[in-house]
Amino acid sequence: MAVLPVITVGDPRLRQRSRPVEHITPEVQRLIDDMIETMHANDGIGLAAVQVGELRQIVVIEVPADEEIAGSGQRYVVINPEIVRASQEEEIGLEGCLSVPGYAGDVARSVSIFVRGLDRRGQKLRLRLNGFMARVFQHEIDHTRGVLYIDRLVAPDRIWRVQEGTEEHVEQEGVLPENAPG
Ligand code: NI
Repeated sequence: MAVLPVITVGDPRLRQRSRPVEHITPEVQRLIDDMIETMHANDGIGLAAVQVGELRQIVVIEVPADEEIAGSGQRYVVINPEIVRASQEEEIGLEGCLSVPGYAGDVARSVSIFVRGLDRRGQKLRLRLNGFMARVFQHEIDHTRGVLYIDRLVAPDRIWRVQEGTEEHVEQEGVLPENAPG
């Protein structure tokens, strides 16, 4: 396994649509292992393949165990993820991204979603996700479509500088942005 470099905003690959994985080859397995290692090395809670420069529809998600977050403490690997249903009801929350270092911003996301895809053995996966986990999945699946959270800010000024390395934890750990308004 290897920690791969994470590409950041400005790299045009982040704006491209990833292609579906057709065959889960040993090379895809290696990529998934490297993505997991890269996510851990960066203290991230989710990573899409495009963030390590691979335009393939693969996401890995692992939110550290927290009794207040349903679905935390579990590792998800989803190939060709697709949101098949999303609640009308949305919730605003802070998001950060390893590909947008040093910032966090407010984004409205569906509070509950239904995701379809494949696990790393190629078995069909169907996941129902709520709250924070639903937010993380929506963020990562957006990456596979070339969309970043900064495209979805509730307002253009609802983004703040945060200490680098804390981007993905601002909501989860309730860390306030350094320059939060008022
Ligand atoms: Ni991200």
